[in-house]
Amino acid sequence: MPAYDKISQALQKSEGDDVAIRGWIYRTRSSGGLAFVVVRDESGIMQVIAEQSSLPDEDFEGAKNALIESSVQVEGIIHEDKRAPGGREIHATRFHVVDFAEDFPITEDQSVEHLLDNRHLWLRSRKLTAIMKIRHTLTGAIHAFFRSHGFYEFHPPILQPGQCEGGSTLFEVDYYDDVTYLSQSWQLYAEAAVFALERVYDMAPTFRAEKSKTSRHLSEFWMAEMEAAWMDLYKVTEMAKEEIKYILQQVLATHEKDLEELGRDPAPLRAMLDKEWPTIKYRRALEILHERGVDIEFGKDLRTIEEKELMKEFDTPVVVTHYPKETMAFYKPADPEQPDEALCFDMIAPEGYGEIVGGSQRSTDVDELIEALEQEGEDIENYQWYLDLRRYGSVPHSGYGVGVERVIAWICGLDNIKDTIPFPRTVTRKGP
Ligand code: 4AD
Ligand code: MG
Repeated sequence: MPAYDKISQALQKSEGDDVAIRGWIYRTRSSGGLAFVVVRDESGIMQVIAEQSSLPDEDFEGAKNALIESSVQVEGIIHEDKRAPGGREIHATRFHVVDFAEDFPITEDQSVEHLLDNRHLWLRSRKLTAIMKIRHTLTGAIHAFFRSHGFYEFHPPILQPGQCEGGSTLFEVDYYDDVTYLSQSWQLYAEAAVFALERVYDMAPTFRAEKSKTSRHLSEFWMAEMEAAWMDLYKVTEMAKEEIKYILQQVLATHEKDLEELGRDPAPLRAMLDKEWPTIKYRRALEILHERGVDIEFGKDLRTIEEKELMKEFDTPVVVTHYPKETMAFYKPADPEQPDEALCFDMIAPEGYGEIVGGSQRSTDVDELIEALEQEGEDIENYQWYLDLRRYGSVPHSGYGVGVERVIAWICGLDNIKDTIPFPRTVTRKGP
């Protein structure tokens, strides 16, 4: 058996070099005694010239007749040719079809729904391959970031008896003779951990029964959360900026080619690394919107269109703090100096990608928490364990969650969040 090169390595070889590659047929055409077969592997694509006169009969028949997505092993000689993708092609001396593919159900220009129905096959596309590689680097960067900042990885339960981000988006699950819920956030359990480990992080599947169809919401997504004792709002917002910058830098450092494949210009993203990312208060955001002709009353959440309008003022992500207390989740404390505002923040990405991070300082006041939980219609008994955290040596603490898919969509410049995750789950899709 020859030693196989990855296609990216084969593309570095010189005229006349021996080479062997293996992969799947990406494109193919033939005429007479000649077949032009473009082969792909994980690392790239390469044209193979299969000539009847240079190949055993069976090999030439295979090269000529194999349909796209057939798996193949090729041996041959490198030939430099400017017209070939990557400037090199292989003149085959062996062409072995490992498995003849049936007619592939995906052809050019197919509807988004058809591609989603065939997601198990569409994963092979150059586009999704590039995105999944970027996703791999991005999640690796999140682990590296927290581990290098003294955070311990901590594993929350996925089955949780209560809500964290509002009861209306909970997924209910049968639990023996009872019911429980899929995790909406790992935060409440992380808060228990900071009294032992002080700094914890996690990246885990997160579930929200989001009933609206948008290009930013998934029913199952991955959230990367952190929680830290002795940290206030200011410190966590700075950490969130540092983390997202680090992620961006890691992706830019390793995925120039993949971003190019996706049609994403890395230059404006790279420029963001050297800029200050502003922090403004929600009240300031309302002023900016007013100046831009959009009037929002204090107390209203910023919707996608307002976030988009606001971000026209900025060329980097922006942190918005101090949203109105009354619309915020129960655990976000009122600012003692301005009680109608909460000590919380969102980070908003440029170009309409919207909220990529959400976080806050955590309320440590049992009475404030009970009142907010009652307002949300919750049974306090279910949260006694959480209130206990304030009864036995509480300390100021804060945390945030990064929407992994939202960050990927922004960095890759994708129209829809569905392409950031291998098998998307939304209100209208639970398979394949
Ligand atoms: O703003 P959220 O709801 O915050 C929390 O869940 C906090 N408990 C996190 C914390 O403080 N530890 O969600 C955090 C981020 C959002 O900013 C968004 O990027 C992403 O998670 N997100 C979603 N991403 C995809 N699909 C959805 N349905 C999402 N909902 C939230
Ligand atoms: Mg949020």
